[in-house]
Amino acid sequence: MTKKCGSAGGHATSEGQQAHIAQQDNAITRSLGKIKNKILVMSGKGGVGKSTVAVNLAMSLAKRGHKVGLMDVDLHGPDVVRMLNLQGVLETPAEPEGLISPLTHGENLKVVSLEYMMKDRDEAIIWRGPLKIQAIRQFIADMDWGELDYLVVDSPPGTGDEPLTVAQTIPLVKAVVVTTPQQVALADVRKSISFCKSVKIDVVGVVENMSGFVCPHCGETVDIFKSGGGEQVARQFDLPFLGRIPMDPQVVAAGDDGTTYLSSDEQSPAVQAFSRIVSAVEKRLPPVAPPVVLQTVPTQGGSKCGSCGSHGG
Ligand SMILES: Nc1ncnc2c1ncn2[C@@H]1O[C@H](COP(=O)(O)OP(=O)(O)OP(=O)(O)O)[C@@H](O)[C@H]1O
Ligand SMILES: [Mg+2]
Ligand SMILES: [Zn+2]
Repeated sequence: MTKKCGSAGGHATSEGQQAHIAQQDNAITRSLGKIKNKILVMSGKGGVGKSTVAVNLAMSLAKRGHKVGLMDVDLHGPDVVRMLNLQGVLETPAEPEGLISPLTHGENLKVVSLEYMMKDRDEAIIWRGPLKIQAIRQFIADMDWGELDYLVVDSPPGTGDEPLTVAQTIPLVKAVVVTTPQQVALADVRKSISFCKSVKIDVVGVVENMSGFVCPHCGETVDIFKSGGGEQVARQFDLPFLGRIPMDPQVVAAGDDGTTYLSSDEQSPAVQAFSRIVSAVEKRLPPVAPPVVLQTVPTQGGSKCGSCGSHGG
């Protein structure tokens, strides 16, 4: 995608380079000007469910009738394309300055990931800071996002180059911070929140994922780890708590199969919890058309589990 300069040696401040940056800045501003809400999904710790939350948040918003973009800036471990089971090849735009079409999922969702940009999917790339910054800038400048109600950005864990670049490149981006209830994750989530403060991005709220376990036999939620830590951290920092998603084996199966269970219409505690989180996110961001029709799903009654007998009732 990048037009490489043929000359050897450093020319970081050359006029050509500066003109290119200025041109790219304009393209970024143009692209972002058509996107109403930008959401960065981040976490302090790896494996807490950022990609799961990002993909399903984007899917749910799209299913609710919004125009949504999903951008995967986890350059080392891009998961979004696999989680959505998307296929497609990058089509070079007809005109030299033309924009690249993102992958699409249904009518309302556009997806961009490095996974989609690479010819050889198993190719390992060593990313240095400036390259990452460049790649992320191109994800915005060179892609045909069009008019969007929401752009959801999935990032790698921590507070490195990727979230920093997103914070610096996308004005008014807001963060959804994902954590699990364990103390180790909570210690790291504080760092994410401090990072947001230092780069001046608003936090939409905190999501506690893998909070309790949904019994596959009766569907009741069992607290296997102490839950509620995410809510405590949110309260401590005076941030909204968006909700907790229980651990549900179907989430793993869906992620592996390229289906999106949490944004499905299943009647299960995890899906219902997620739906409430999506509504909370919508409510906390500037409203977009079309008007949102909220579905209220009755919570399940508490009968005793026939299989384990130890919960429910
Ligand atoms: N609520 C849940 N119940 C059960 N499994 C879950 C849940 N949320 C996420 N998972 C599973 O946990 C694993 C890690 O999730 P995911 O890839 O979304 O995390 P991540 O924070 O994006 O990880 P990384 O830091 O590597 O990018 C996946 O296998 C996913 O299916
Ligand atoms: Mg991920
Ligand atoms: Zn049970």
